[in-house]
Amino acid sequence: MVVDNMGLDHVAIKVRDIERTVEFYTDVLNMAVSDRIGDAVAFLRTPAVAEQSDHHEMNITQYSDEELELLEERGELELDLHQFEEDLPEDGPPMLPTTGPIYHIAFEVPDYEAITDAAEALEERNHPIYRGPGRHGPGNNIFLYFPDPDGYPIELTAKMEETPEVGGRPPKRWPQTPETWNVWRKADNLE
Ligand SMILES: [Fe+2]
Repeated sequence: MVVDNMGLDHVAIKVRDIERTVEFYTDVLNMAVSDRIGDAVAFLRTPAVAEQSDHHEMNITQYSDEELELLEERGELELDLHQFEEDLPEDGPPMLPTTGPIYHIAFEVPDYEAITDAAEALEERNHPIYRGPGRHGPGNNIFLYFPDPDGYPIELTAKMEETPEVGGRPPKRWPQTPETWNVWRKADNLE
């Protein structure tokens, strides 16, 4: 190994329209801009679920004009997020409609109520919801998935199982079933 200890610090994504993206993360997810570089880069921090707040957890970078042209050639410049929502299979695991390498970006919220409140508020905004609220098997965490303006799926998650280095349960291999992804899938009453 090259390091003894570390944690996940921030994620950096490229976006089609940086102003639209900054507006989404600040207005919908209550993040704040810590700094910007020119017109092309923004550093965003989350409202602190944790005690301390770092300078940024996200780095948003505007695609260059050449990259935007490439997206246009591929017919991927404009995204219809509601169309992705319709394309999701009814059955099966909570696969998210992204063809890019980033499958989703998860933010921790305090509790189940924060997740149901978010789901309601997204519905009021007519913003697509991909999956949830539900509860994953591995991690036992509650989830809600929805897209950002570029279609990057955002996960809000709460109550993840703690897995201490010392004294935690041993890893197990879960079956490849929809219930592994959402243990509530068959529940009649989600309350
Ligand atoms: Fe996740």
